[in-house]
Amino acid sequence: MVMVRFIDREGNAVEAEGTAGTSLLQCGQAAGMPLEGTCEGQMACSTCHVIVAPEWFDRLPEASEEEEDMLDLAAHVTRTSRLSCQIVLGDEIEGLEVRIPAESRDMQKS
Ligand code: FES
Repeated sequence: MVMVRFIDREGNAVEAEGTAGTSLLQCGQAAGMPLEGTCEGQMACSTCHVIVAPEWFDRLPEASEEEEDMLDLAAHVTRTSRLSCQIVLGDEIEGLEVRIPAESRDMQKS
């Protein structure tokens, strides 16, 4: 199991464990985080947007162009924003910390 830490909208740290090879989105949902993931990882909704702790951002594999394009449309995007459906859990990200943005936007609805 891989341990990651979510910071929720109230600023509380929530530790969660996920199986290696599954997505950070699934892990967050299992931990009760408000990540809708409406498009189920198809990079079409941006409701799985998370803000990665700066010290972790460079340690993650780079985002694809499709992911960057979708992030451009997400609400409250920062320099270290990522789509959690595109982050795969593995030993190398044990201890990863991400924050839930203040709100998310479902690009499929607008
Ligand atoms: Fe829709 Fe990640 S779940 S973009």
